[in-house]
Amino acid sequence: MTFDAPSVIRIKRDGGVLSDEAIDWVVDAYTHGRVADAQMSALLMAIFLRGMTNGEIARWTAAMIASGERLDFGDLRRPGAPGKPLALVDKHSTGGVGDKITIPLVPVVMACGGAVPQAAGRGLGHTGGTLDKLESIPGFSAEISKGQVRQQLCDLGAAIFAAGELAPADRKIYALRDVTATTESLPLIASSVMSKKIAEGTRALVLDSKVGSGAFLDTEEESRELARTMVELGAEHGVRTIALLTDMEAPLGCTVGNAIEVVESLEVLAGGGPDDVVELTLALARETCDAAGLDGVDPAQTLRDGTAMDRFRALVEAQGGDVAALSAEALPVGGHSETVTAPRGGTMGDIDAMAVGLAVWRLGAGRSAPGERVQFGAGMRIHRRPGEPVAAGEALFTLYTDTPERLAPAAAELEGAWSVGDHPPPQRPLIIDRISP
Ligand code: URA
Repeated sequence: MTFDAPSVIRIKRDGGVLSDEAIDWVVDAYTHGRVADAQMSALLMAIFLRGMTNGEIARWTAAMIASGERLDFGDLRRPGAPGKPLALVDKHSTGGVGDKITIPLVPVVMACGGAVPQAAGRGLGHTGGTLDKLESIPGFSAEISKGQVRQQLCDLGAAIFAAGELAPADRKIYALRDVTATTESLPLIASSVMSKKIAEGTRALVLDSKVGSGAFLDTEEESRELARTMVELGAEHGVRTIALLTDMEAPLGCTVGNAIEVVESLEVLAGGGPDDVVELTLALARETCDAAGLDGVDPAQTLRDGTAMDRFRALVEAQGGDVAALSAEALPVGGHSETVTAPRGGTMGDIDAMAVGLAVWRLGAGRSAPGERVQFGAGMRIHRRPGEPVAAGEALFTLYTDTPERLAPAAAELEGAWSVGDHPPPQRPLIIDRISP
């Protein structure tokens, strides 16, 4: 059977179901440049508007996995325990604002004896990407070879790398979604996350499926459905997968951006940091260690005794990063700033995560064209979190950028996104639910 892009687009545009063969063809043809960006953009928008059946999502995911190689670390053995395979496990988030959890979590799991082959992504839409954050550390490279990933898994217990030849279809589609307003789609998120994670060779996976204004999907029900879909995809491909549904109504922690989130992650690794970041890091770390079969470990202890920090420094060094630069003083900060102050005293109300994400994107932390360079120093510090007391005139938010003309549009995004009132906002649990197979 022969296919052409306009016919495939038309089927989805008109609300039809794509056949397995049509999906295989279009994903392969796009990966190899036989379907143009404009055509894939139209198809992505049709998928965004019309959705996909579970069968289509499963096939689209399989086609994205088949677009590249699938890593296998089954032959690797634990150092000091020659007969034992590595406890391969990973974590991935569906995307949030201030969501730096991967940065402290990976070294915690390393310190507990896990092996994390983390294929990470760059910023997408209003959300930040782990790679953009880590690349703000001078010298750090995520473009490492397969051989280096294997070596680091054995010697250190983790590698954080750009997906590269894993699911190359996702790499192209992800970059296209980022600039065509097609990120917020359940089928496209599920297939993007799971194709990378299945191809990277992990045995177990813990997902953080975000719920709230800063999440890609609008309602808790949709985020729940996304989590269920991904857990099923994992099971179909032999990856033991569980998901936590977690709150993303307000940004996580007190920082949003690139280097500024690394600084906050270092605080967590030093045994401090904002309560919500610590709570979520530890909840996900416990799930991750459990999924990897690591019994009798205490993730919290690794933050208290500095072993997670040691692992992080070793990981950064192995990937070319300058460990002397791992401090608030040495990491990049935008040269221009603006501070938003409290118009009155009272209690900080809710802060809208989506507005903060868009503001930080406008400051230069994300991209508006494929391949654009992000500003490592762009970001925002949140001085008062929801429920904290506020004095009239005190600093609530500080915005940082290298390009001063970005300050006004970023500050405009924040208008109406926060308030100071007489009462604390209603409290929400950070961890809403757990979805298992
Ligand atoms: N993370 C991904 O890898 N893909 C998405 O679409 C969203 C979050």
